[in-house]
Amino acid sequence: MHILFVLPLAVGVIAGASSALAQNQPADRGELLFDIGGCTNCHTTREGPALAGGDPIVSPFGTFYPPNITPDAATGIGGWSDADFIKAMREGISPEGDPYYPAFPFTSYTHMSDADLIALKGYLDTIEPVEASSPDHELKMPVWPYLDIPLDLRVALWGWRWLFFEPERFEPVADRDEVWNRGAYLTLGPGHCAECHTPRNLFGALDHARDWSGNPDGAEGENVPAITADAAGIGDWSEGDLSLFLQLGMLPDGDFAGSGMAKIINNGTSKLPDEDRNAIITFLKNLP
Ligand code: HEC
Ligand code: HEC
Repeated sequence: MHILFVLPLAVGVIAGASSALAQNQPADRGELLFDIGGCTNCHTTREGPALAGGDPIVSPFGTFYPPNITPDAATGIGGWSDADFIKAMREGISPEGDPYYPAFPFTSYTHMSDADLIALKGYLDTIEPVEASSPDHELKMPVWPYLDIPLDLRVALWGWRWLFFEPERFEPVADRDEVWNRGAYLTLGPGHCAECHTPRNLFGALDHARDWSGNPDGAEGENVPAITADAAGIGDWSEGDLSLFLQLGMLPDGDFAGSGMAKIINNGTSKLPDEDRNAIITFLKNLP
């Protein structure tokens, strides 16, 4: 399976390197945030138009169909104000006041600053509007997997939020330097790395007591490895190993990253300017 990802990754890295160099200016901050945010990984189908709705996400709670987030006014988010967008990303609440399912990783994007969210929306506004609607989610209770009745769990999300979610904002840590803090922001916020690398509890919420310790039941059945800075994780990886991995997807043993991580690298970390990627590496190398 891994060989399939080598070519697109290599091409992506070459294109990514030159575009990051050419575009590494503040005006393109929105695009960089879009890349590291991985929006396209979920909101675009394999062959469909960008951001017009994504491939189904299969989870223990059923199947989610990521919606159209192009600037189309009727079926996308074209009619949204900056405040609507900030509320969705930071609080996980729609313009109509309904809570979003955490299959949308607002639980990480909540760490992003308003300035960055506005820059990100500015970039989304430049995407071609597409008229398209995703199917309704097909959800079920994971405790009764055989009880195949369609469920709308949205009302239950208020309880879920009360238990597991508090809108947050990234606060720089005073006794860490700027590079570490930059890396922490990118990893915890737009990079949403914890969404896969931290295990989840029965209710699908991130189990912060076991932060970064990996998730044997990751999305699409992937076994997501620990990335703590000890022997269980990436303690024996050098900074060079990590740099090669986050640019090319190549593991220290010469193998290549599988699909979930390959997308994160191909569309995200490989496109970052070196200083941002190195900041992420600094943060990872210091994880407990
Ligand atoms: C892991 C998959 C995933 C990623 C990555 C992701 N999203 Fe989503 N997003 C979803 C899902 C699923 C929903 C639907 C949630 C719901 O119905 O409650 C959603 C909903 C949304 C909505 C609400 C749309 C509406 O019509 O109400 C917005 C806005 C959004 N995402 C923006 C983004 C942006 C911007 C990014 C990148 C920074 C992003 N998403 C990354 C899965 C994802
Ligand atoms: C969509 C889920 C997902 C997200 C989000 C994600 N990862 Fe991963 N990651 C994986 C999977 C799956 C693997 C295992 C890939 C393989 O070996 O085939 C992996 C592997 C890794 C590894 C190699 C660990 C090892 O021991 O092999 C590192 C380092 C890593 N990820 C860092 C990150 C960083 C940094 C981010 C955020 C920018 C991130 N990941 C976001 C799913 C994810």
